[in-house]
This record gives sequence, C-alpha cells and structure tokens, in this order.
Amino acid sequence: MNRKILVFDTTLRDGEQSPGCSMNIEEKVALAKQLEKLNVDVIEAGFPIASIGDFEAVKAVAEAVSRPIVAGLSRANEKDIYRCYEAVQHAKQGRIHTFLATSDIHLQAKLKMSREQALERAISAVKYARNLIDDVEFSLEDAGRTDRDYMCQVVEALINAGARTINLPDTVGYTIPSEFYDMITSVMNRVPNIDKAVISLHCHNDLGLAVANSLAGIQAGAGQVECTINGIGERAGNASLEEIVMSLKTRAPYFGVDTGIVTEEIYRTSKLLSSIIGVDVQPNKAVVGKNAFAHEAGIHQHGMLEDKRTYEIMTPESIGLPKNELVLGKHSGRHAFKARLEEMGYTIDDEQLQAAFVKFKDLADRKKEVFDEDLELIVNEGLKEYKSGYTLAYVGTTAGSSIIPTSCVTIIAQGENGETSITETAIGDGPVEASYHAINKATGLPGKLIEYQVKAVSKGEDAVGDVTVKIQFEGLDRLVTGKGASTDVLHGSALAYIDAVNKAKVRLDMKKHDAGQEVIRERI
Ligand code: KIV
Ligand code: ZN
Repeated sequence: MNRKILVFDTTLRDGEQSPGCSMNIEEKVALAKQLEKLNVDVIEAGFPIASIGDFEAVKAVAEAVSRPIVAGLSRANEKDIYRCYEAVQHAKQGRIHTFLATSDIHLQAKLKMSREQALERAISAVKYARNLIDDVEFSLEDAGRTDRDYMCQVVEALINAGARTINLPDTVGYTIPSEFYDMITSVMNRVPNIDKAVISLHCHNDLGLAVANSLAGIQAGAGQVECTINGIGERAGNASLEEIVMSLKTRAPYFGVDTGIVTEEIYRTSKLLSSIIGVDVQPNKAVVGKNAFAHEAGIHQHGMLEDKRTYEIMTPESIGLPKNELVLGKHSGRHAFKARLEEMGYTIDDEQLQAAFVKFKDLADRKKEVFDEDLELIVNEGLKEYKSGYTLAYVGTTAGSSIIPTSCVTIIAQGENGETSITETAIGDGPVEASYHAINKATGLPGKLIEYQVKAVSKGEDAVGDVTVKIQFEGLDRLVTGKGASTDVLHGSALAYIDAVNKAKVRLDMKKHDAGQEVIRERI
C-alpha cells in the first residue's frame, strides 16, 4: 500500500494574509466547506490572536466543518496559544499550530534571542499547548536557513515535549529541491524519536520552487504537506495544492504515495477562491489555468484526435473541469437546472437552490443562452451571500458626449428596525463613477476606487459582464474586493461596489470591537 500524505491547506491563513486576498467570515466558511468536499486533512483557518475578525473566522470554520482537523496559528507564547485554543476548541478535531523562528538571522535580527533561549521558549510553548489540546503542531520558522545540528536538536526536544507534527518551512523560498531533500533526509535519519511525529513541509515560492521543494521533501519521507489553493500566499505565494496533488496522482508509480484529495473538486475550489478574492489565476497556470487543457497547435490537435495520451498527461475530468456546453435557456425548469448543477458537481441545499434558480431565471430572461460558466458564477456568488447589509434596488444613469454623467441609485439598508430605502443622485467623470458617488452618499461610507476590471463570463453579445473592484475605504488599511455580475455593465459595476461596501462595513464593525484590545497583524 502507498504511503499516505496528509494535505494541510493554509489558504485561509497564509493565503489570506497576502495583499488583495483577504476574506471575511462568510467567505472563509464557504471556502472551508468546499475544502471539506475536496477532502483536505487539515484546514488552517486563521491566526486567532490577530483580531476579533480572525478569531471569529477560525471559530466559525471550526463549527462549520466536521471531517477535517481545524488548525489555528499562534506565536510561541501563552496568551496567543490560549486564544488559539479558544477558537479551535469548537472543532470536532482542533489543532494548535505554534511557531518560532530558528535560523540565526531570525534569532538575531528579529527575536534577539540565543539558540538556547529559543529552544527553551519552544519547549514551553509546546508543553503549554499540550495541556490544552492533544493535537499540537510546531513550526521551526525559516527552517530552510537553520543550522542542521540545531534543527535536529530542536525537533527531538519538541517531539519529547509533545508535538505531534513538526513543520519545517522554507519560509523565504530560498532552498533548492536537492538541498531540501537533504534537509528532510537528515532530520529523518538523525532525530532518534522521529517516528513519534509527522514531519510536515511548508514551502514558499520566491524562486518558483515551492512545489518542486515540496515534492522533494515528500520523497525524503515527510508525511504532511502545507499548501494553498491557486498557490496564493505571502509574496510569490505558497506551494500550490492542485499542482502538488496532481503531480503525486499523475506520477503515482514514481512517488508511491497517495493523498485523499477528491481531485474532481479541484477546479471548483480554485474557481470559488478566485470568485471570493477577485483574483484569477494566470491563463497558463498549471492544472487550473484557462489554457491548461487547451490544444491550439494543429499537430497537437491531430495527435489528440488519434489518441488523447499523445499530449494529455491528465484528463480535464480528473480535476472536475466542466465541458462548457450550451446548457439552458429561459424555458428550462427547476428540474433541468438542478440536474445540470449536479452534473457539474455542485451539491447545494434547497434554500441555495431556490436563490440560484431565481437568479438563473432572471439571467435567462436577459440572455438567450446560459452556459456552464454563467451557472458557475451564479452558484459561487450564492455560496458567499451575506445575510445583512445593503442591497441594490435600482441604478439609472444618464451619460453621453455632451452631458455630465449623472446617476440615481436606490439602495435598501437592513437595520435593526427593518428595511429602509434610500435614494441619492450624484454626478461623476463617467457613468460608473457617478453611480459610485451616489452609493457613497446613500451609505455614508466613502470609498475610493483603486482597481476596476470587467470581463465577459461566456460567449455572445449578451454575455454576462463579471465586474471586480478594489476599493480603499477610510479607516481600513487593506483594500476591499467587490464582485458583481450582470448583462448590464453599469448594473454589474454598482453590484460590485455594494458588495465591497458590505464587506467594508463588517470589517469596520469588527475594528470597533477590536479597539482597546492589543491587535497584531504580523506578517509571517
Ligand atoms: O512560512 C512560514 O514559515 C509560516 C509558518 C508560520 C508556518 O507560515
Ligand atoms: Zn508561510
């Protein structure tokens, strides 16, 4: 039987902390449920001490999933560890993941600690965490640049202290695969109690080697790999889950290991993440890029017609890529709609189905042909819908070459005393800006448009326009992403802006709660 490799997904923690990738609680929960379908072994849901928002998100994920282990990150001190425990204790299986740097450069420049002091601190952290919970992971931050003898000494001591998983990250993406292989091999061979813990890998992609290093580490005997969907993460990102998993599957006889990943869920997970953070993968991205299974060259197409294996090392079906056929129109009923979603691999509950069907009918009235991509958008949008905030009731704009663009907007605000309808008008340099100014007036939450992107979701003149905006709101240091889709670009643009406003409102409310607390947002 093949050796099992545990897949530890850190999209919601290391991925989420990279610029432009932040997620709110509802979005983290939606993605966590999809990660459960993908069958990852561990979901790292956040860094609970960082803010009330991070804490609540880890707790919400812990409550929302039942099979995977839910981990939270904490620095190696009692206050962080206890806060982490308070969040992950809600999980069926919770894990405290605590860390301290061990490389000389980090010890001297950042922590101002000697190697002995760091070792002592790490041991106390693991012992303290083990008093709270059974499942404790320790990461030797910057292991890739840590002295080998010292690394082996720390690993042995931490296993004795009770750590069940020891993570050896290449924090700065500095190592080369053969070097990383040697590093893991020496830990496996030299640490006498190594059989009492799982060795984990966590590679960053600064030199584009995160996946190669992870595979080398697995070959050297590691039992867990830490990675993110679409490879999002600090700087150049983390190792990409889909690339590691598909390498191990496609070259199974070579690696002789298995993951439990349901690879047919890979494409949907990648798409859901892109739709949440508003960041698409590049077209030539391995496994999930738009061109990953496209064959343009005539000679390739000829080969493919003869025998697909000539140019295809894995099938599009194996990652759950939909066929993108013309599927439904305005006469299609709920039954056909549901059946198509099921064929595409979506399992949504009755309430979500009802909401999605209403959106589908509305779209089918405005668009002759509804494609799989349109359905994907409808479902992904529905999965992360908010229960409160503002909704757009109406947007009307006049614009032209010789008139000042003017927009009138009506929004519905959900408050404690029910709904209020607010109508405002404003002008702008263009019609989209005019509608944004009107929304600013109506919500009293001024935002500045930093990035605007619109793309056609599917084919045809009546294609749905998918609008992504990045907005800077007063009082928030990170940009807020908003998404909206409509066959009318102005309508889609207003929806995207309202989406960002709703997210900003949640974050500003969280910030008010955080005031008075010691808040950290440490970049790791
Ligand atoms: O990159 C890193 O070293 C980390 C650790 C906290 C695991 O993210
Ligand atoms: Zn990391």
